[in-house]
Amino acid sequence: MLEIVVCVSGGGTNLQAILDGIHKGTIANTKIKAVISNNKNAYALQRARENAIEEICISPRDFENRESFNKSFCETMRQLKPDLIVLAGFLVNIPKEMVEDFRGRIINIHPSLIPSFCGVGYYGLKVHEAALARGVKVSGATVHFVDEGTDTGPILLQKAVEVGEAVTPEALQRKIMEEAEWVILPQAIDEIAKGKILIGDNREE
Ligand code: GAR
Repeated sequence: MLEIVVCVSGGGTNLQAILDGIHKGTIANTKIKAVISNNKNAYALQRARENAIEEICISPRDFENRESFNKSFCETMRQLKPDLIVLAGFLVNIPKEMVEDFRGRIINIHPSLIPSFCGVGYYGLKVHEAALARGVKVSGATVHFVDEGTDTGPILLQKAVEVGEAVTPEALQRKIMEEAEWVILPQAIDEIAKGKILIGDNREE
């Protein structure tokens, strides 16, 4: 059984896609140990509650400084001991210590085709605003391992999406979620659970 912790900041539609995949069996042999959010009002936490999954809120705002937040966040994760950490719309930088503790065991969904529209400052709707401003005809989503950089880790899966009639950032975001994110994030977890994608110490560098 692959035990995962899902980290979220907002609506949690990617978390929902994971929950649906587990229920339908399109994600094999996987259990969500806990859902962690930096935002106590995140609707994603409601989704965890409805599914009787442990919910944990840990926000940098409740700590004196970043260092003490990072320490507490890392300690929480160490105690949970997941096989895999899934960042599903989590808008907090992962502390370096956590990357070291869980090397090759943290994956992230990013709403563009990396290396386009990624890195510092590119998150959520900002990614789609930039893609539309550049006039791209194709965008998409990427699942990648998390390393010390921002969106720099090895790529696991990508899916392209035609921009088509999506002329607003909101419309493009929705199209990319539906056609790519909710497909490749559950797929990546399923392939990891089945050993088709290797993680952690088993991973080829
Ligand atoms: C998703 O589009 C995800 O790709 C993006 O935030 C959104 C969260 O939506 N993540 C990033 O931008 C990370 N850099 P959700 O809460 O409905 O899953």
